[in-house]
Amino acid sequence: MPRHFIIDTDTASDDAVALIMALQWPDVEVDAILVTYGNLPVTTGSTNARYTVELCGKATPVYEGCVKPLLRDVAHAEEYHGPEGMGILGRLFPKRPAAEGHAVPELIRRCQAAPGEITLVTLGPLTNIAAALMIEPRLAEWVKQCYVMGGAANCVGNVTPGAEFNIWCDPEAARIVFHSGMSILMVGWEISRFDAVISEQEMQEIKAFGTDRARFTFDCNARALQYGVEFQAARGLMLPDPITVAIAIDPSLCTRRSWHYVDVACAEELTRGMTVVDELSVTGKRPNIEVCWAIDAPRWKKMLYATLR
Ligand code: BDR
Ligand code: CA
Repeated sequence: MPRHFIIDTDTASDDAVALIMALQWPDVEVDAILVTYGNLPVTTGSTNARYTVELCGKATPVYEGCVKPLLRDVAHAEEYHGPEGMGILGRLFPKRPAAEGHAVPELIRRCQAAPGEITLVTLGPLTNIAAALMIEPRLAEWVKQCYVMGGAANCVGNVTPGAEFNIWCDPEAARIVFHSGMSILMVGWEISRFDAVISEQEMQEIKAFGTDRARFTFDCNARALQYGVEFQAARGLMLPDPITVAIAIDPSLCTRRSWHYVDVACAEELTRGMTVVDELSVTGKRPNIEVCWAIDAPRWKKMLYATLR
């Protein structure tokens, strides 16, 4: 029996690799891909997602969603991912158009039709999910488990000192989702650093597979690699979205996890978008989010290799 996933993504370079992993995994069926603004405008993210689906030989429907945050101005991240979000690949030309209908009602419809069966993975700002919860709060119960790539549990931000990009883009949406009652594992950006980084030697090993997927992975991440090394002290390629999908595929990959009260700072100041984790329960508030603190890095890389061969 396949496991059913829905993936919400602002498809740029690392999102594309995350999609490949889920689309290629043998017992996972990606029922739908929802696109949000984030790294890029929705239409560009949709183009990239559809191209990735076709590269994997699949026909997964790609639904376009919210084009801006709930309250904020939209901000993109082309400087990190490159023009069109895809490194040296530039503009892509998928054959199929986006699916008809909006991502938000589609998410509600699919989860209502299969309560307790759908694993939701979010790889971008949480606007689509928050909008869906505003329309239908029971979505929180219908989703089997949600894996959020977002936040930074120990406060190492990548867009400000305190905030990670996905949460920073739409902190109000993140706050709605975090307090919705949905079962959520938060995979912070810091999990993709250090041991989890794909080293130069590992990149060479993967390129030697000679597959289209392996080539695509490094071509579309060429700019992200350069940016990470130059500005984020990375010793190779960081892949936060693929790590989150890998954990959704095999939750035991997360080797240390615990539940905490987590809130999102929404004030327009130094801490905008910061995920504030009450690690020592000083607030006495009921835990609402499970935090991933560590992963088995060698095993994560094995999973990546398996889907790019
Ligand atoms: C997140 O921001 C995006 O640029 C990446 O795709 C990832 O989802 C990392 O902060
Ligand atoms: Ca992303």
